[in-house]
Amino acid sequence: MVFYLSYGKRLEDDSNDLNGVLFVLDNFVRDTYPGAHLVDTFPVLDRFPDWLAWWRVEARMKHEKEMELYQRLVLEVRKKMFDSGDNLECFAARLWDQQKEMSFDLEDIAYVAGSAFEAGTDTTAGTVQWFLMAMVLYPDTMKAAQAELDSILGTDGKIPPSFSDMQQLPYCYALVKEVFRWSPAAPGGFPHYSDNDDFYKGYKINRKTMVIPCIWSMHRSEEEYPEPHRFNPDRFLCEDKPISGESLTEGHYGFGFGRRKCPGQYLGAKTIWIGLVRLLWGFNIGPEYDEAGNPLTVDPDNCTSGMTSKPINFPLQIAPRSAEHERTIRREWDVISKGML
Ligand code: HEM
Repeated sequence: MVFYLSYGKRLEDDSNDLNGVLFVLDNFVRDTYPGAHLVDTFPVLDRFPDWLAWWRVEARMKHEKEMELYQRLVLEVRKKMFDSGDNLECFAARLWDQQKEMSFDLEDIAYVAGSAFEAGTDTTAGTVQWFLMAMVLYPDTMKAAQAELDSILGTDGKIPPSFSDMQQLPYCYALVKEVFRWSPAAPGGFPHYSDNDDFYKGYKINRKTMVIPCIWSMHRSEEEYPEPHRFNPDRFLCEDKPISGESLTEGHYGFGFGRRKCPGQYLGAKTIWIGLVRLLWGFNIGPEYDEAGNPLTVDPDNCTSGMTSKPINFPLQIAPRSAEHERTIRREWDVISKGML
């Protein structure tokens, strides 16, 4: 979806775009891993010539490949704008509209559009995967959310939930917040520099120190979140804040902090809300069983590590809740895919 919003076209399977995107996302996760490159810790190493600084040669190659993809995508958007003269609705098109006013060059446009989808893809996908794992591990939570959905939308499977139902679905709202809390998709937080000298728990943090906020351990604070390892939406049910797409990002640190807090937080939170409530409405999600009928183990610690984190393949079963739910899902998909392609 983030790709579609950035460039106004879907990311097709087996396409050149997909290969490029996977290359970029892979590098992003690997290269932003704290400590991945010694030169970030010891900037003096940056004075080495290329033949001693293999990381620079590699970084240049990655940059060129990334730029090639990002520029091709935004140039394609500009061509479509010229060719059809129509009002192509996507982020890159709006950047082209503002090119003169904002003095953007091609590289600026390529990077601004590219970084939106680069930062918004793995985080959104990872959050959905954590949700699926939570539903396998906490079936009663899934049933409680489905009961709430059925009480508002009926059980006939004809009408999927939409944003206008959010206010009437407080348990689902709390469940989405708990997904952000229980297993944040960017658990290590992004590195920040401190603006000023600071003191924390007896440590002096000098100005311009790289500070890496560990969101995962903040979300495991016993004081703030009793029984933090348990997936428990109830902890967000007693909030006295009004339910809204925006407040999905409050009460946890899943979208970061301060000036650099995720600029896609509201889009990301609402994407996740609609995605998860529709999955809950349409599907039963549960464990896979072995031949003896015992559920296969699912371990939340079995996950990727890095700037973003998601579960490593785990067994689960997912099936439409009824034949009517399935018909509705297929019908909606037909409408959407025809409209977007
Ligand atoms: C569930 C979805 C998402 C999660 C959990 C998430 C989480 C985060 C986090 C933790 C940060 C670091 C903030 C900090 O430095 O304190 C961040 C940064 C960022 N996010 Fe998101 N994000 C999500 C979706 C999106 C989307 C949809 C977009 C764009 C369309 C986006 C664009 C960005 C950008 C550009 C940054 C870098 C901001 C900067 O360093 O100035 N994110 N995100």
